[in-house]
Amino acid sequence: MGDAPFLSVEEISKAFHSDQVLNQVLDSISFTIQRGETIALLGESGCGKSTLLNIIGGFERPDQGLVKLQNESITKPSRKAIMLFQHYGLLPWKSALKNVEFGLESSSLSAKERAERARHYLDLVGLSGKSQMFPHEVSGGMKQRIAIARALAPQPELILMDEPFAALDTFNRYHLQDQLLNIQAKEQTTIVLVTHDIDEAIYLADRIFIMHSNPGRIHHEIHVELSKPRDRSHPDFYTYRKQILDEFHFSRQESAIEFHI
Ligand SMILES: Nc1ncnc2c1ncn2[C@@H]1O[C@H](COP(=O)(O)OP(=O)(O)OP(=O)(O)O)[C@@H](O)[C@H]1O
Ligand SMILES: [Mg+2]
Repeated sequence: MGDAPFLSVEEISKAFHSDQVLNQVLDSISFTIQRGETIALLGESGCGKSTLLNIIGGFERPDQGLVKLQNESITKPSRKAIMLFQHYGLLPWKSALKNVEFGLESSSLSAKERAERARHYLDLVGLSGKSQMFPHEVSGGMKQRIAIARALAPQPELILMDEPFAALDTFNRYHLQDQLLNIQAKEQTTIVLVTHDIDEAIYLADRIFIMHSNPGRIHHEIHVELSKPRDRSHPDFYTYRKQILDEFHFSRQESAIEFHI
């Protein structure tokens, strides 16, 4: 394989037609990712993050360009890349354990090995005591942990996450972010994470791609050069925050808002 990047996105463009209007959603997007990296795609609603993630996962075809995973073109969903959605996608009639095992059905593991593997990943996300519970019996944060265990259990090369923690409260979100970091450090999984949460991007990502819309482009790439686990209250964290807020023009402009007391 030589020095080929783990994932390479090459000149991806995508337009949608609606009401006879052409909406150029992605315009010539290119980047490469190395094995074990965590990348955050950060941008406002509608800038094309999910479309780009779906193209990387092979769920959507680009109009132009190509995506290569380990030097092979992605043209359809593959077991090498697993998508983790915001709304869990659990099967309500299966227990937590059986939901995680479900992700292993197409593998060559025996039933016993599947159950062992599923238990291991439920354990990693802190749910070993809940394996027999059904999705409706557990909290939203636990549902998302089951979904993470199910995504990790097949040991994919790449995990694609579309706002995986957006529906969770702050405590659950922070907790799951830490669990994800722990697991990622152990397994060296490569992660592409879509988010519009600036702190989440700084906390988890090695590099943040700032996307702007109309058409969606990667406007800027930020290397987060803080060692993990990161301290959300450290001044260096705030420096990155400020840099990103400036990118989106959210920093307080002296003349932007006038307060009359
Ligand atoms: N199947 C589709 N048909 C037509 N237009 C689409 C389709 N999918 C996405 N779009 C349009 O493409 C643009 C980008 O959508 P996308 O879902 O990728 O945005 P996003 O950055 O993920 O937004 P959000 O943060 O709200 O999830 C939007 O204008 C959307 O309306
Ligand atoms: Mg989206």
